[in-house]
Amino acid sequence: MRLGLGGRNGAHRGGGEPEAPQEEPWGPPPVIEVRSLRKTYGHGDATVRALGGPPDPVTGESPGVDLLVEQGDMVAVMGSSGSGKSTLMNILGCLDVPTSGRYLLDGIDVGGLDEHQLSLVRNRKIGFVFQSFNLVPRTPALAQVELPLAYAGVRTAERRRRALAALALVGLADRVDHRPNELSGGQQQRVAVARALVTAPAMLLADEPTGNLDSHSTEEVLSIVDRLNASGRTVVLITHEDEVARHAKRVIRLVDGQVVADVRQAPVEGPPPALRDPGIFAAHSPQALSASGGGAL
Ligand SMILES: Nc1ncnc2c1ncn2[C@@H]1O[C@H](COP(=O)(O)OP(=O)(O)O)[C@@H](O)[C@H]1O
Ligand SMILES: [Mg+2]
Repeated sequence: MRLGLGGRNGAHRGGGEPEAPQEEPWGPPPVIEVRSLRKTYGHGDATVRALGGPPDPVTGESPGVDLLVEQGDMVAVMGSSGSGKSTLMNILGCLDVPTSGRYLLDGIDVGGLDEHQLSLVRNRKIGFVFQSFNLVPRTPALAQVELPLAYAGVRTAERRRRALAALALVGLADRVDHRPNELSGGQQQRVAVARALVTAPAMLLADEPTGNLDSHSTEEVLSIVDRLNASGRTVVLITHEDEVARHAKRVIRLVDGQVVADVRQAPVEGPPPALRDPGIFAAHSPQALSASGGGAL
């Protein structure tokens, strides 16, 4: 069993014995541990509180966001436009820094890192997927997926091997030479997913990954994300669509920069809902992907 923050930092072993070094009895650290996170833009009358909620009338302090995400979880962050989803994603992705609060990513306190260290953490710990795919124009799929490995200093042959495996995993083994303009939207997003997972990151972080896709491609991409999570990958996806959120094991709702609901739909351990209860999802799931190779990465 895994314990949350209290267990890891605050539990007493009792017995009065001197503490012997032990294997981590409480399991791996959470992938995300956020405490009292706040983000404001601007100053004075023009201040926008994007994250953390309105200030308490007495103390003047905004409550901030607390969030713990365990390894293997699949979390959907929902909220209407302007509720702070992208602000949260940018901070969790180390693309932006909070105004105040603490963020530990896979046990690393990112608050103390400089720009260079942050770029290393981003490269090693996080796989990004964006609504607009963010592929490099006129570049074949294989080279797109190799790119993060090139940044990480992986040698050419190994790069190629891992990129091909990642593309096979998303069902694109036969499209590795295709450029973005030769691929459908769904295929482009699958290249982006392959690029995100090829470095074996601690977490996949996706901001509206299906926002530009039709319903068939949406289900294709989500079924890949389901399988990645089932093989142990932690997933945080930001969405305003119920259809996407029902794939998650846990759904968090933001209103005005505050977490107002946190609902578990499936246990952290075990497969995500679509693989747990395939019958419920069967009507939507395309069959094309079942034959596309399900090797683990
Ligand atoms: N760079 C910025 N400067 C000023 N205000 C911003 C900036 N980015 C976001 N905001 C404001 O912060 C709030 C949350 O925005 P955002 O995180 O983009 O929400 P969401 O992604 O849920 O639509 C909104 O009120 C938005 O207008
Ligand atoms: Mg947004």
